Amino acid sequence: MDKIIIRGGKRLKGALPVSGAKNAALTLLPCALLTDEPLTLRNLPRLADIDAFQHLMNQFGVSTTIAGSRPGDFGRVMTLEATRITSPVAPYELVRKMRASILVLGPMLARMGEATVSLPGGCAIGNRPIDLHLKALEALGAVIELTAGYVRAIAPDGGLPGGRYSFPVVSVGATENALMAAATARGRTTLHNAAREPEIVDLCNLLAAMGAVIEGIGTSDLTIHGVPRLHGATYRVMSDRIEAGSYACAAAITGGEVLLKNAVIEEMEATVQALRDAGVHVEPQAGGIHVAADGPLRAVTLATAPYPGFPTDMQAQLMALLCRAEGASVLTETIFENRYMHVPELNRMGAHIETRGRTAVVHGVPQLTGAEVMATDLRASMSLVIAGLAAEGESQVHRLYHLDRGYERLEEKLALLGADVERVGAD
Ligand code: EPZ
Repeated sequence: MDKIIIRGGKRLKGALPVSGAKNAALTLLPCALLTDEPLTLRNLPRLADIDAFQHLMNQFGVSTTIAGSRPGDFGRVMTLEATRITSPVAPYELVRKMRASILVLGPMLARMGEATVSLPGGCAIGNRPIDLHLKALEALGAVIELTAGYVRAIAPDGGLPGGRYSFPVVSVGATENALMAAATARGRTTLHNAAREPEIVDLCNLLAAMGAVIEGIGTSDLTIHGVPRLHGATYRVMSDRIEAGSYACAAAITGGEVLLKNAVIEEMEATVQALRDAGVHVEPQAGGIHVAADGPLRAVTLATAPYPGFPTDMQAQLMALLCRAEGASVLTETIFENRYMHVPELNRMGAHIETRGRTAVVHGVPQLTGAEVMATDLRASMSLVIAGLAAEGESQVHRLYHLDRGYERLEEKLALLGADVERVGAD
């Protein structure tokens, strides 16, 4: 297993291209199932999760081709053609590796009138149930069976009538599955308390480009007028607001100054506000975001929340930054039940963080010290990298496969900004 060696203390400086958003790409890819025409996605990030999803689509008989790109390029262009679906089954051995595979359930059901998807297990940050996905699809008219660790969804007489569903809890994935299933339903669907994340807007914009009729895009009340069929499209994946926020924290903790190219500040208001509250200068500039930290960092108190609140996917990264703030910060994680696994590792680097249930108190310390640490999940891993960039001495972050799921060519991007980093294979 690879690890990354970081020699801390370098101030990050320079311009960095932000990649396409992993969490948008993972819901745009299954849209290919909704049409027998080619779907071309541009600005796809080169990530392990995208490769895994491509493999899953091939499993269904979907052809995928990657347009040529120069070795140094970030992002790729992929064309998917679901001319014929040879199997409506997403098997355990693929789904267990990537929970987002559940996002084929809605589109496969809509296309084939049936879908069988292995239940995704829990993961490091929580048990991650899918009950809301299933309830939403039932509201659209699906019949759902759970057998032998698989979900089997069936559309009576081959098509979904559509319907009305009000989410008791905001769920990004369940909203996405419902949207993709509703696009070609026979009637109208209304979704209430739907997720409003920018990735949902990206999905709605792609579906509309394919011919879907959706009202209320960007709000928590969506109306989808089913259409008989969708056509192909060419679409650019939105920029990754979480990657951008992660590198903003990395720049700030080193007292650096970076330009995050292609980042969209309007999609990151809560993150930007938290950074500004912490004493970081953040301004839109040259089609991206300029981030600079030249003074002391200040403590911040906030709770994670569904969009437009502070994103749970930024909690670990902000916590790393706040380890170097003056005073005590109080963070509350309201979305997932176990998203503090970065805390013991940060404390091994000299941080002083106390957790009590969903709340973490981050007592700022004058200095972090390099250590060997273990990545446990995607965003926790980035938190450790951020701390390592500011720590005195050398840090080694093990189990890099977690990072490779969500950060495109991380060590190259950090090196672009002047960090002293080195990726080494298993010793
Ligand atoms: C998406 O996960 C993201 N993943 C997550 O990013 C992100 O943390 C999460 O949304 C919240 O923003 C992708 O988009 C691929 P949810 P998702 O359904 O859809 C509960 C990362 O680091 N819930 O919005 O799985 C659930 O347990 C990843 O990039 C149910 O109870 O999240 C959680 O407490 C991590 N029943 C809350 O809702 C359900 O059927 C929000 O989950 C579904 C969810």
